[in-house]
Amino acid sequence: MKRSIVIAATLLQLAAADWQFKSRTDLAPPRLNITIPAADNVEKGYLFVSPFAGFPDTAFEQHGPRQAGPYIFRDNGDLVWSGYGIYSIWATNFQAAKFQGQDILFSFEGDHNAGYGHGHGHTTIMDQHYETIREMRAGNHKLTDKHEFHVINEETAVIQIYQPVPRDLTAWGASEEQQWIVNAIFQEVDITTGELLFEWESLQHVAPDEAILPINPGQAGSGYNSSDAWDYFHINSVDKNADGDYLLSARDACSVHKINGTDGSHLWRLDGKNSSFTLGKNLTFCFQHHARFHPQLKTEDDGDDIEIISLYDNSAHGTEDGRGTEVATAPTSSGKIIKLNTTSWHAELVQGFYPPDGLRSKSQGSTQVLPNGNVIVNWGSEGALTEYDSKGNPLFHFYMDSGYLGLGVENYRGFRYNWTGLPHEEPAIVALENDGGTTVYVSWNGDTETKIWRFYAVAGKYGAKSFLGEVKRTSFETSLSIPKKLVLHMVAEAVDSKGRVLRSTGVVHSEPEVLPASVIKGGLVLQNEKQQWLEL
Ligand SMILES: *[C@@H]1O[C@H](CO)[C@@H](O)[C@H](O)[C@H]1NC(C)=O
Ligand SMILES: *[C@@H]1O[C@H](CO)[C@@H](O)[C@H](O)[C@H]1NC(C)=O
Ligand SMILES: *[C@@H]1O[C@H](CO)[C@@H](O)[C@H](O)[C@H]1NC(C)=O
Ligand SMILES: *[C@@H]1O[C@H](CO)[C@@H](O)[C@H](O)[C@H]1NC(C)=O
Ligand SMILES: *[C@@H]1O[C@H](CO)[C@@H](O)[C@H](O)[C@H]1NC(C)=O
Ligand SMILES: *[C@@H]1O[C@H](CO)[C@@H](O)[C@H](O)[C@H]1NC(C)=O
Ligand SMILES: *[C@@H]1O[C@H](CO)[C@@H](O)[C@H](O)[C@H]1NC(C)=O
Repeated sequence: MKRSIVIAATLLQLAAADWQFKSRTDLAPPRLNITIPAADNVEKGYLFVSPFAGFPDTAFEQHGPRQAGPYIFRDNGDLVWSGYGIYSIWATNFQAAKFQGQDILFSFEGDHNAGYGHGHGHTTIMDQHYETIREMRAGNHKLTDKHEFHVINEETAVIQIYQPVPRDLTAWGASEEQQWIVNAIFQEVDITTGELLFEWESLQHVAPDEAILPINPGQAGSGYNSSDAWDYFHINSVDKNADGDYLLSARDACSVHKINGTDGSHLWRLDGKNSSFTLGKNLTFCFQHHARFHPQLKTEDDGDDIEIISLYDNSAHGTEDGRGTEVATAPTSSGKIIKLNTTSWHAELVQGFYPPDGLRSKSQGSTQVLPNGNVIVNWGSEGALTEYDSKGNPLFHFYMDSGYLGLGVENYRGFRYNWTGLPHEEPAIVALENDGGTTVYVSWNGDTETKIWRFYAVAGKYGAKSFLGEVKRTSFETSLSIPKKLVLHMVAEAVDSKGRVLRSTGVVHSEPEVLPASVIKGGLVLQNEKQQWLEL
């Protein structure tokens, strides 16, 4: 029997601490709503997402996730790492990468102007121990935007900036008061020194004629002040190839640009008002994100005149606060792999990746081509992610949260990466007395290496250890029940695949178990494994 009213009321009361984990009562990670469970042929690795609420909570409506932030998950929705409160509350573009041979994590952290899709902040880099090693800012006295931070050759990063500047815009239908336009800038910076290596600004190279959204009626800003600047171009991704040339996605010009990395001149434009290429079937894209070079996808027959790129085609534009009207150019969004021929100047769609549930995201999104040829499409403002095989068949699909918290969850970009997490912090442990017995729970936020947890009773705070049992680690939290026995002091040891002890917890003193009152009253129990509320 379903009792959804009771369930909703219960969840509301639990608010911030939802007791998913006894050893980490402070954590309330999203419960992924997996609608297509991962097939056997998904790529190996963990999921990297950073979901946030697209709408502010009101007295009547609450939106998920309960704790916005960067997360690493396993394919079954099991938590590996919660970055809530570690990276700042508005953190996005969370990824793993390599920097000088070292595995790193990075995320944008800063302010978010949701109405215009502009961030102002910096990118924080962490090592495998989840310790900050670098904080990257833009060069030339500018504030980094959230959209791009992409590591090139393990040494440098390409980033972008939305710089408002005053100009006479009357030639584009503006009144004399509408003077502000966004100069879309990208930079390449040295990660070690922060040195600015290259800078390119759109107003030097692309006239506002190429804008798809005119200054009036103000869909992309109407230019009355610096925060309302007309965002005529909107660079939202930057890549660099082995030749040293750059690839830009310009969302508000519905075009992708290849830029000479020596002098900043155009090598070509794809789509938009001035495409260098004729476009094959189903190729047209608009308001797109995340354009990337893919030389590894070229076949043996493809000469130097062939280039392969991927992008996320929103085919829709709209603001997160609902300001202005929405514009749509196709029935759904899609991931796209595109082949360009610079002899024939013709572009063909190699493969489109279409959403399982007809999703169309008016903002955000990403397309990641994985090493085995699978492709991950992250549906931006729709808060969903799909993995496909290279032929476009969906293998895995989930939404970023569940139940009422699933409504309005958004996620800018989503990825799969391998990752080895070796947290510096001590594992968390709690021992709870129930029915004359003791159950001990242990977890270690961010750890990927523990295979077995060993539990010991300790005689007094510093006394001798006696072995209680060991449990295979199958999930974020691992527990051992000792029936009919009160164990006063305990420790747990994390053991890796080679049988080495990685770390011990501190000694924990057992405490009486307290069950959530609302759960008992409602006759409901929280099941961690299935991540849903069931009736007793
Ligand atoms: C900037 O202009 C917009 C649009 O006219 C307006 O809504 C906003 O209040 C203005 N902001 C400031 C700081 O004047
Ligand atoms: C890029 O610009 C440099 C300097 O103007 C030029 O020597 C080079 O040939 C250009 N590259 C391409 C691919 O056109
Ligand atoms: C159109 O694109 C070509 C090649 O990228 C460029 O040379 C030309 O200036 C562009 N025309 C306009 C009107 O921007
Ligand atoms: C072109 O798009 C249509 C409609 O979305 C789709 O049914 C068809 O499979 C696509 N063709 C290719 C080659 O992707
Ligand atoms: C690229 O276009 C040229 C000129 O039309 C053609 O000869 C060549 O076969 C094309 N390359 C590929 C890989 O299709
Ligand atoms: C999961 O997502 C599907 C598709 O949007 C929706 O119908 C279903 O209600 C969701 N389930 C939960 C538990 O949120
Ligand atoms: C993770 O590592 C495995 C084994 O080396 C490799 O096959 C796979 O492609 C990697 N996954 C990703 C997302 O890079």
